Amino acid sequence: MPTVMIAGANRGLGLEFARQYLADGWSVIATARDLPTAKDLRQLPGIELYALDVTAADSVSSLVTTLGDRPLDVVICNAGIYGPKDQSLAAMDYKAWLHTFEVNTLGPFRLAAALLGNLKAAASNGTPKLAFITSLMGSISDSSGGTYAYRSSKAALNLVGHGLAQELKRDGVAVLLLHPGWVQTDMGGPNAPLKAPESISGLRDVIENATLGRSGSYLDYRGKTLDW
Ligand SMILES: NC(=O)c1ccc[n+]([C@@H]2O[C@H](COP(=O)([O-])OP(=O)(O)OC[C@H]3O[C@@H](n4cnc5c(N)ncnc54)[C@H](OP(=O)(O)O)[C@@H]3O)[C@@H](O)[C@H]2O)c1
Repeated sequence: MPTVMIAGANRGLGLEFARQYLADGWSVIATARDLPTAKDLRQLPGIELYALDVTAADSVSSLVTTLGDRPLDVVICNAGIYGPKDQSLAAMDYKAWLHTFEVNTLGPFRLAAALLGNLKAAASNGTPKLAFITSLMGSISDSSGGTYAYRSSKAALNLVGHGLAQELKRDGVAVLLLHPGWVQTDMGGPNAPLKAPESISGLRDVIENATLGRSGSYLDYRGKTLDW
């Protein structure tokens, strides 16, 4: 069976990715910053777990050492934060804004660089896929102002992912920028219209149907193309 690696899987959308891929019989490698407290994840039968903080170079390199040259058919860079509570002109916390970039933009890039060899190693099974979980809030054309830390970190992720898509075509790796919709999680809150199972089932279809020809696309959970 194919292998998926999900970064940031102890709750929310990452946890649902892990549940659904396992239920489909995939080999699932999942990560959490703090494994002892990742109770929901640890109770999933058959899952392979590692500790990972995407902002820490040593954490990423120790994961890579552990994985060795194992092929990864799909890598999902899901870990993300909203950033400081108040992101207004009047009250921006600049240190927290920088940390938002560390997690949402530099983290996925660091992970992509570290796991590229594992993705390439899966090319004989079909097109390996590198999926970045971004947000519609990273769309410049959609922005109505506000939420500057989160929006800018995801807009930057979009640019990084679009660039990587061009670069990694020669390696046969497809890159996707995926918006899950507004979903009920700790981040999305209780008023979100979507529940995680629907969002993730849609995103899994989008990942499954991705091709090298459409690498670098910015898509929502229904496969709809979004404006940058
Ligand atoms: N929910 C929505 O409506 C929505 C909409 C658009 C996009 N998204 C995106 O979807 C992704 C998942 O969001 P969610 O709603 O599931 O959020 P969530 O419930 O807040 O979960 C975020 C996940 O990211 C992990 N994480 C945070 N910082 C990390 C780090 N430095 N290293 C590794 N993992 C880290 C968290 O781990 P800890 O528990 O250790 O903090 C947690 O597993 C995010 O990228 C988010 O921006 C969500």
